[in-house]
This record gives sequence, C-alpha cells and structure tokens, in this order.
Amino acid sequence: MALLPLLHYPDRRLRTLAQPIAHVDDEVRRLAADMAETMYEAPGVGLAATQVNVHRRLIVVDVTEDRSGLITLINPEIVEASEETKVWDEGCLSVPGFYDAVERPDRIRVRATNLQGETFEVEADGLLSVCIQHEIDHLDGKVFVDYLSRLKQTRLQDKIKKQKERAADKAPVLARG
Ligand code: NI
Repeated sequence: MALLPLLHYPDRRLRTLAQPIAHVDDEVRRLAADMAETMYEAPGVGLAATQVNVHRRLIVVDVTEDRSGLITLINPEIVEASEETKVWDEGCLSVPGFYDAVERPDRIRVRATNLQGETFEVEADGLLSVCIQHEIDHLDGKVFVDYLSRLKQTRLQDKIKKQKERAADKAPVLARG
C-alpha cells in the first residue's frame, strides 16, 4: 500500500470528469486500498480518485471514529434523494483548513459496485450522506466551495494565493534558483 499525493484547490485537474470503471481488477483494488490508506493518514472521512489525480469513478468513505466502516463505491450513482435538506459544515482534503456550510439532500440511496464487482445499494443519512454526495461531486469535477457565494470563493482563492506567496518567500534562495 502507498500514500498518494493529493491535488489541492484550485488545481484545474480537480475539474476533470471521471470515467466509469468497466472492470474491477487488481489495479482497481490496489487503487482503492491506497486511497483508503491516504484518507486515514490525512485524516479524512472520504476521498475520491479525482483527488489523487486518477480520473476513474471510485470513492472511499469511512465516517466512523474507530475506522471500522470503510465503504468503497465504484461507479456510485445516487438513485434517490430526499426533498428534505440539511446544512452541514464541510471540509475537504483538497482544501485544507477551510470549512463552510453547504446544503444538501438529507437522505440518499446510492447504487454502486463493490471490490468484488457486485452491485450493492447504500441508504445513508447524516454525515455518511453528506460525505458520499461530496465525494461523488469530486468525480463530476465539482468541489464543495462551488456551492458558496462568489465573494466567499474569491476570498478563499486570494487567501490560498497569499499562502503560496508566503511559502515561496520562505523557501531557500537556492531552491528558487
Ligand atoms: Ni473533498
């Protein structure tokens, strides 16, 4: 298993539409294992292949505190969503240190393929529901900050730009060439 490097917002590669996985083979199983390891190490409650620059439809989630609830969803599809919505404070491993409120359907039913290539369904509410919706968005090239106001998005992008400039200032002169 290996830790995989994460893409960070506003990297344009996060905008890539991920392609369906036709066959669940050892390569897919290895990717899923590496993604789970990367998610736990971060630590996070979900990770989409998009975030590790692999543009295939695969997500891993585990919203339990003792890491006992790993779910791997291949080609996940929301087949039912409640009209009732809920607002949660969301964060993202691709947007470190930033959290904001997003409104989404409260309950969902998701159909996906598992690591054995079998179709299964998950009914989710609460954090698991939010998490699955957030990760499926990644596969569609969406990041949770897209739901925020223009003003908030601009402020966040300015903040990230300044952080990058500060980091560059601190880098040794030699490394800057
Ligand atoms: Ni995310």
